[in-house]
Amino acid sequence: PGPSSAAPFAEQDAAPRPLGRIVPVPASVTPGGAPYALTAATRIRVDKGSREARAVGGYLAGILRPSTGLPLPVVDDSAGRGGILLRLRAGESALGEEGYRLESGPGGVTLTAHRPAGLFRGVQTLRQQLPAAVERDTVQPGPWTVAGGTVTDTPRFAHRGAMLDVSRHFFTVDQVKRYIDQLALYKINTLHLHLSDDQGWRIAVDSWPRLAAHGGSTQVGGGPGGFYTKDDYREIVRHAASRYQEVVPEIDMPGHTNAALASYAALNCDGIAPPLYTGTSVGFSSLCVAKPETYDFVDDVIREIAALTPGRYLHIGGDEAHSTSHADYVAFMDRVQPIVAKYGKTVIGWHQLTGATPAPGALAQYWGLDRSSAAEKAQVARAARNGTGLILSPADRVYLDMKYTQDTPLGLSWAGYVEVRRSYDWDPGAYLPDVPESAVRGVEAPLWTETISQSAHIDRMAFPRLPGVAELGWSPAATHDWETYRVRLAEQGPRMTALGIDYHRSPQVPWPAE
Ligand code: ACM
Repeated sequence: PGPSSAAPFAEQDAAPRPLGRIVPVPASVTPGGAPYALTAATRIRVDKGSREARAVGGYLAGILRPSTGLPLPVVDDSAGRGGILLRLRAGESALGEEGYRLESGPGGVTLTAHRPAGLFRGVQTLRQQLPAAVERDTVQPGPWTVAGGTVTDTPRFAHRGAMLDVSRHFFTVDQVKRYIDQLALYKINTLHLHLSDDQGWRIAVDSWPRLAAHGGSTQVGGGPGGFYTKDDYREIVRHAASRYQEVVPEIDMPGHTNAALASYAALNCDGIAPPLYTGTSVGFSSLCVAKPETYDFVDDVIREIAALTPGRYLHIGGDEAHSTSHADYVAFMDRVQPIVAKYGKTVIGWHQLTGATPAPGALAQYWGLDRSSAAEKAQVARAARNGTGLILSPADRVYLDMKYTQDTPLGLSWAGYVEVRRSYDWDPGAYLPDVPESAVRGVEAPLWTETISQSAHIDRMAFPRLPGVAELGWSPAATHDWETYRVRLAEQGPRMTALGIDYHRSPQVPWPAE
């Protein structure tokens, strides 16, 4: 039978999923020995005295209990033997911040990590080794077996991100948390929130209250928009942290600022506030680079947002500043980057920042195309050789808002159509000419939301491209292979369905019948 026939997959459901046949594919897999079967006696044993190991154990139990119907108590590791053991080991520094080892045999499954984030990533591997039905929220028949053997796994890149534009359309805290939970399954560790743009300002700033109250009061198409209170935002940050994701807030400047300019007349060079904007053009707005008030505004906003941000980075945008002269752009970035440093954060900017002078330690996020000019790529490469780290988000590869094909109802196509293979089949370490892999901090998949206004839309555009970007970020270059990836991705279909994700059924992928 062909790969789209249900039979081979149905048979596989009775046997455990072969060890390592997951997304992202692990760095090292040594299958062998008998599987482990979860039973009514299985306990989740965690390092006694580690609050974080216990929290990861509780998270795992929360995923497994509804579908398995098993009690799966979370207990101290000293309680008995076997079962699922989550342990932190100071001596395992080779596993780094996010690495883990999973050892599975008839007596149990042991996850070992150096740091709690590694336990959390390892739990995603354990989860994917179980049948897809484990993701359902009602009791399923099982059996619940994990193939025997050892997985040892660490990420290729430190930065594996997803960006959500909450400005063009506003998304509620619960919608953002849903996305965070989906990203966790694929070992994403960074959530970049595009919090301001021409169409909406989405975060409360106490010292400039009209930014949210007025600037957040609409969105593309003229709907009611919305904004996060500081408590809302803390809730997002807290939820992301529980999934070992760092939130990178972006305030896009000096362009993409109509919502701010509409909220405060004093920010405009002519002292006149423009109307709110609900269309989808870009490049028409600019902060007034010559005005002192502009830097009072920037200082206040960065101070308040930095105070809400336990993470290292603050993204200052800097893209498509078509209404700012080059001299003004450079002057603006020279003045604003030290403000970010003053409040203890490191700058990230879209790669146009490399046309100014990136601050020491700054990261540039490349969003060009394969066909972008050699001069543009050379400018980015020069910055990289001078120490600016790069996050790669090539628009014609990983922009999740690009249509898959001309028939995709949602999305845009200015960067071209991006089917699943195209988004997976490139190498971040060798993508930009004259950029060494050591300058690449990782990859990020942005989802711009001009046409996206519901969680179902996020699901359809992110899945199944996001898992491929996650694999590019996590898995060793040597594992990169479309033909084997597409088979592993196909096996994610029933899992995504079980999670309620109505993904794009790309004809490039041999999905099983569901
Ligand atoms: C961008 O897509 N303007 C970063």
